[in-house]
Amino acid sequence: MGLIVLESVIIAFSVLSIIPFADYLIDTDLNNPSKYTILLTNFLISINIEAGYLVFASIFVLSNLLRSFINLLIKYRVLKIKFSIQKSFANEILNKIFISKWTFFNSLSYGKIFNTFTKEIDFIGSASRSIGDVFSSFISIFTFIAIPIFIEPKMTLIIIISCIFLGLPFLILTKTSKKLGKERTEAGNKYYAKLTETIQSAKLIMGFGLGKKQTNINFNLLDDYFSKDLKSQFVNLVSIYLFKPLAIILLIMIFGSSFDLQNVPSYAAIFWSLYGALPLLGHVFNTAVVINNYQPSYNQIDEIIKRADKYIERNGEIKISNINDDIVFKNIKFSFEEKEVLKDLNLTIKKNKITVLVGESGSGKTTIMDLLMSLQKKDSGQILINGNDIESLDLKEFRKLVGYVPQDPVLFFSSIKANMMWPKENLNSNEIQEALKLANAYDFIMQFPKKLETLVGEKGTEISGGQRQRIALARAIVRKPKLLILDEPTSSVDLETQKLIKDSLIKISKFATIVITTHEKTTMEIADEIFEISQGKSNLLKSI
Ligand SMILES: Nc1ncnc2c1ncn2[C@@H]1O[C@H](COP(=O)(O)OP(=O)(O)O)[C@@H](O)[C@H]1O
Ligand SMILES: [Mg+2]
Repeated sequence: MGLIVLESVIIAFSVLSIIPFADYLIDTDLNNPSKYTILLTNFLISINIEAGYLVFASIFVLSNLLRSFINLLIKYRVLKIKFSIQKSFANEILNKIFISKWTFFNSLSYGKIFNTFTKEIDFIGSASRSIGDVFSSFISIFTFIAIPIFIEPKMTLIIIISCIFLGLPFLILTKTSKKLGKERTEAGNKYYAKLTETIQSAKLIMGFGLGKKQTNINFNLLDDYFSKDLKSQFVNLVSIYLFKPLAIILLIMIFGSSFDLQNVPSYAAIFWSLYGALPLLGHVFNTAVVINNYQPSYNQIDEIIKRADKYIERNGEIKISNINDDIVFKNIKFSFEEKEVLKDLNLTIKKNKITVLVGESGSGKTTIMDLLMSLQKKDSGQILINGNDIESLDLKEFRKLVGYVPQDPVLFFSSIKANMMWPKENLNSNEIQEALKLANAYDFIMQFPKKLETLVGEKGTEISGGQRQRIALARAIVRKPKLLILDEPTSSVDLETQKLIKDSLIKISKFATIVITTHEKTTMEIADEIFEISQGKSNLLKSI
């Protein structure tokens, strides 16, 4: 704010400094100077400077240089505000995702999320920059206008009012601009959805030999997206590029018709001043268009945040630091919208034993695991942990006791060591070694040239599916979980690896309750208890 006020003082000074400069150019003897020139000359004499061409010219040049410099500083501030707004939106969305229920994230389209993070937030930044620029130029506009009004009120008012009328028709563009903005945002969502899908399935696409086809599909979507963005940005430019020349023509016409040869220096100041004000005025009209254009971007972010607010995960009060007892599912009902998945499920997961869930695909095994981590909420019934229903637990604390290996585990794109340290930062190398040995992963890692520093992840060193499973298992046990949940850990690995994983699980069950879903006979062999999941219910097949 201080800078803006300082800028307007300097603007006033730089505009007025043209008067003595012009006075001097007309008559070097200064026989008939303007009031302002007399004032300035007197001031200069009082500080012992002799008024002359060089002095007036320097004042004119310096004050205008200073004005540009301060303007630059203001633009820098506005840019900083733009980026901090972008950062805070990005942060808020990510934050909301992780305090919401899993179902919220699961229902978000990846394309929408990526488009929001990459482009839409950027558009909001641009809109806030435009608003910032207009806001900071308001005082400048008034200063620019104040001086001509003071010197020549009638003509200035005519010019200003005519310019406002000149700008009003541009406001018709706001509606078109909003519509184009919406089309652009939707095309962006579609493009980013396809792009993420393409990158994630690169191997599949290559395997089918359909790279060219997939490239074309992406290209067409990108083409559509860019052509919508092009239209959108063009409409934004129209007002700024048409307003300025039209306004200057208007300025010259009105100016020329009432030009007074007696008073050239004052007229120079008026012209100089209005010449500075008009582009700023054009900017005000342009911002109205730009804001409308970017409103759909804001709406998209707002919609995600508001929806997340409806899905905030309710956290219970009870903090537990161990699992002291069997875990009991009692009369659990669960549906995905209309689809009833669990009808009246009862099962008991015995403490520090291996419980295996078998059943046809689609029978609800993964759903049971999601309920057990409270990633999904049951419709009715009870899931008792230490005798408390899962919904009364402090979930953050409870989940610290859980180790989880999803069906298709993801390793982060970094070293094996970094993957191991992700759940627990202050691990020492003994703990890492111990977990890797327990998961039967240590020996093969030691055969890699870079050992623990080997890069893994989607595009890291090609490690096999079985190796990935075992590293994921090691990562799940470094925190010494009390409850280990494994979704089909042996489904995509060879017999040898199945045996190794089986050996690991027997060792781990000494200190943790283990729940596994599987089809594999070899994994079922190690089960203390086996439940078959079918028709939304469970059937005990084997018991100790
Ligand atoms: N996000 C979802 N929305 C709707 N239905 C789902 C969703 N996830 C799973 N289902 C349905 O719930 C049922 C159980 O799925 P799941 O627990 O994954 O089975 P399993 O792990 O035994 O193969 C399936 O019939 C599946 O169609
Ligand atoms: Mg499953």
